[in-house]
Amino acid sequence: MAKIKNVGILGAGKVGIVLAQLALAAGYNVRISGSGSVQKIALTIETLVPGATPATNQGVVSKSDLVILAIPLSRYKNIKPKLLKGKLVIDAMNYWWETDGIREEVLDPSSTSSEQVQNYFNKSTVVKTFNHMGYHNLQEEARPVGAENRKALFVTGDNKEAVDEIAAFVDTMGFDTVVHYNLADGIMTEPGSELFGASLTKPDLQNVIDHFDETEFGKKIKAGKSA
Ligand SMILES: NC(=O)c1ccc[n+]([C@@H]2O[C@H](COP(=O)([O-])OP(=O)(O)OC[C@H]3O[C@@H](n4cnc5c(N)ncnc54)[C@H](OP(=O)(O)O)[C@@H]3O)[C@@H](O)[C@H]2O)c1
Repeated sequence: MAKIKNVGILGAGKVGIVLAQLALAAGYNVRISGSGSVQKIALTIETLVPGATPATNQGVVSKSDLVILAIPLSRYKNIKPKLLKGKLVIDAMNYWWETDGIREEVLDPSSTSSEQVQNYFNKSTVVKTFNHMGYHNLQEEARPVGAENRKALFVTGDNKEAVDEIAAFVDTMGFDTVVHYNLADGIMTEPGSELFGASLTKPDLQNVIDHFDETEFGKKIKAGKSA
């Protein structure tokens, strides 16, 4: 895979803006889009992420080595799969009832959200990360490698090479990583899980992941699978 230099972010909301700030600080070229016109987000970007380029979704994707989905989960089908064809994609999305509405209308209950995102963008390589930490924590707790109390993010996907590449990217963004090679394991960090909203160091994150089946949420997921 080509070395990541250009980072594209779809979604100029709370998480999109913070990830754009972190990516810019890490030295990447950053392009970012919202759902409307470029003009609509231009002033916000100029003010909050000076140096990033506001663009259309097409403009963001065409010039990016990596595309981050930072939009409400209920909106991902507004983006045509063709647009992301061949791209390395980070899914930072979660189902959130207040924004997304009724779960069954957004997600098929038989699989995890990231699996559904991957099935939809079936010519792209999807890796899930950045989803489980609140945007304030992402903004305030990014630290250089080796810093004391550095926090960690879970990174998971089916394509090993892509997961390793995204883990290295996350490290440059200011976080340690705990890595799995199974996109369905994204469920371990979704709303309802102990890790959703948590901001933990790597040993603590690893510990919860390793004992996921023993957590209340893990037991529920396991029971659902064997039912
Ligand atoms: N908030 C958090 O702390 C947090 C942390 C981790 C992950 N997440 C996840 O990240 C995603 C975004 O959350 P958020 O809190 O950043 O939401 P948000 O503040 O509501 O921002 C969502 C952004 O997505 C844009 N958007 C919607 N449809 C789009 C499309 N088709 N193309 C391009 N942009 C589009 C919106 O643009 P308009 O305003 O023009 O509609 C808005 O800029 C959610 O899935 C959420 O679960 C959130």
